[in-house]
Amino acid sequence: MIFVVAVILFFIIFCIFDIITPDKYPVGPKRFPLFGSYLEIRKLRKKLVFYHLVWDHLAQQFGQVFSVKLGRIEAVVVSGYDAVRQVLCKDDFDGRPDGFFFRFRAFYKRLGIVFVDGPVWTEQRKFCMQHLRKMGLGGDLMERLISEEVNDLMLDIKKRSNNGNKQIEVYGLFDVSVLNGLWTMLAGQRFNLYDAKLAKLMELVHVSFRMLDMSGGILNQMPFIRYLAPKCSGYRDIEHILNEFYSFLRGSVEEHKHEVSDEDDLICAFLKEIEKNKESTKSFSEEQLLVLLLDLFLAGSETTGSTLSFVVLHLLRHQDVQAKVHAELDAMVGDREVLLSDKNKLTYLEATLMEVQRHSNVAPLAIAHRTVRKTSLQEYIIPNNTLILASIWSVHMDKQHWGDPETFRPERFLDGSGKIINDSWFIPFGIGRRRCLGEVLAKTNVFMFVAKLLQNFELRVPNGVQLPTNHQEGVTISPSPFSALFIPRRHHLHNHQNNKI
Ligand code: HEM
Ligand SMILES: *[C@@H]1O[C@H](CO)[C@@H](O)[C@H](O)[C@H]1NC(C)=O
Ligand SMILES: *[C@@H]1O[C@H](CO)[C@@H](O)[C@H](O)[C@H]1NC(C)=O
Repeated sequence: MIFVVAVILFFIIFCIFDIITPDKYPVGPKRFPLFGSYLEIRKLRKKLVFYHLVWDHLAQQFGQVFSVKLGRIEAVVVSGYDAVRQVLCKDDFDGRPDGFFFRFRAFYKRLGIVFVDGPVWTEQRKFCMQHLRKMGLGGDLMERLISEEVNDLMLDIKKRSNNGNKQIEVYGLFDVSVLNGLWTMLAGQRFNLYDAKLAKLMELVHVSFRMLDMSGGILNQMPFIRYLAPKCSGYRDIEHILNEFYSFLRGSVEEHKHEVSDEDDLICAFLKEIEKNKESTKSFSEEQLLVLLLDLFLAGSETTGSTLSFVVLHLLRHQDVQAKVHAELDAMVGDREVLLSDKNKLTYLEATLMEVQRHSNVAPLAIAHRTVRKTSLQEYIIPNNTLILASIWSVHMDKQHWGDPETFRPERFLDGSGKIINDSWFIPFGIGRRRCLGEVLAKTNVFMFVAKLLQNFELRVPNGVQLPTNHQEGVTISPSPFSALFIPRRHHLHNHQNNKI
C-alpha cells in the first residue's frame, strides 16, 4: 500500500517537474508530462506539412525565441536575423544533440562529424578541411573531377532526350553524378552513371531524408517507442537502411586496406591517420571513419541534388530568367567549354543560383545545435543541453528585409552595374564555426552543372505538364517529381575535357 502511494506520489512529482521551466526561459506552447507538446506539434504538422512552417506559426504567437518540449527533449526555436546570427555565431550554441537516435546511427557511440562536438569534432573537422583543401578545394583538381561528372551527364541527357523530343524526369536526375563526384573524393573510385549499387544507395538517402527530421524524429523524442512500435516508429526501417549503408562503406574501407596505394582519397588518408595515432587517445578509429563517411555522404548528396533540381524547376517556371542566363553564357563563353574561372564573369547566373538557394531553402532549419553550457540569448537564459533549432528559412523569407521574399527575382542580388551584392541575410550554408563543411564543393558543383546544362540545352515544360508547387518535406526540402524537355542548343556537346584524371 505504502509502496503504491509512494509510486503515485513520485509520478505526480515527476509530472510537475517535467513541465516546469526555469526562470527567464522563453515561453512556448503548452506542455504536458511525458509527451511535452508532441500532440499539438503533430496537429500543426498535419495542417502545415513543413516543420519550418510550424515553427513560423508558433513564432507569430510566442515570439522569435520560443521554447517547445518535443517529447522528452527540451528545445528552443529561433527565428529572425538577429537571434539566428547570435545562435550560429556564439560558441555556447556550438554543440550538437545527443540522444538515442544519434547514437543508434553510430554504433551506439558519438561518432562522425555532423553530430559530435567538443574535441572529437574539432579534430575531425580539421582533418576533413585539410583533406578537402588537398583535393584542391575550388581549384584545378576539383574542377576536373566535377567536369567529368557533368560531361557524362550531358551526354546521357542528350541521348535519353532524343534531341529534345522525349521528356526526362528531373527529380533525382543529378543524384548519381553528384554522388560520384563526392565518392571520388572520399574513396578515389568512380561508378558508372547507370551503376545499380549507387542508384540504390541514393534511393536509401532519399528515403531516410524523407523519414527523419532535425530533432532525430520520434525515436529521439521518445526512445521507448521502439519497443512499443518498432515498425510504425521507423525503427526497423532505419535499422535496415543503416545496415545497407554500412555494409557498402565497410566494403570500400576493406578494399582500401588490402590494396596498398598512395592514392590521395579520404579513406586512405584516414587509415594512415589511424596507424599514426594507434597509441594516442585521438578520435581516429575505424568506426569513426565509417560514420564520417556516412555523414559526408548524407550531408553532401541530397542537398546538392535538390538544389540542382530546384534550379531547373525555377528556370522552367521563369523562362525570362532562363533567356537571360542563356544570353550571358553566349556572350561570355560562347562555344568553348565552360570553366570554373568563368564563374566570376557570369554574374547573372550567379545571382540566379543565389536566388534559387534563398527561395527554395533546401535546409530550412540548418542542423540542430545544442547548448554546451548555460547561456543567454537576448533577454532569455537558456540552460545547458537545450536543443536549438535556427530557422534559416525565416531569415531568407523576411518581408521587411527582402520586400518581396515570395517572388523569384535574381536581380535582387545584383547592383546597378551588374555586380553581385553580398547580402548578410543570405545564409544557405549557415554561418559560424558549424557552418557547412562542403560549401565550396557544393557551390562548385552547382555552378558547373547548371552552366554546362544551360550552355547546351534549353529547358522547356512538356506540353500538358503541370509543374509541382508542393515540395517534399524531411531533413531537407526537395521538389516533387516533375519532368522537362531538354532541347539541344548546340551541334556539339562541349566535353573535350572528358579525359581521365
Ligand atoms: C547546396 C548544398 C548544401 C547546402 C545548402 C548545405 C547546407 C548546410 C547547412 C545549412 C549546414 C548546417 C550549418 C549549421 O548547423 O549551423 C550544413 C552542415 C554541413 N554540411 Fe552542408 N550543405 C550543402 C552541401 C554539402 C556538401 C556537398 C557537403 C560535403 C562534404 C556538406 C557537408 C556538411 C557537413 C559535414 C556539415 C556539418 C558541419 C559541422 O557540423 O561541423 N554539405 N550544410
Ligand atoms: C553541460 O552538459 C554536458 C552533458 O550533460 C556536461 O558534460 C557538461 O559538463 C555541462 N557543461 C557545463 C558547463 O555544465
Ligand atoms: C563579396 O564577396 C566576394 C566573395 O566573398 C568578394 O570577393 C567580394 O569582394 C565581396 N564584395 C563586396 C562588395 O563586399
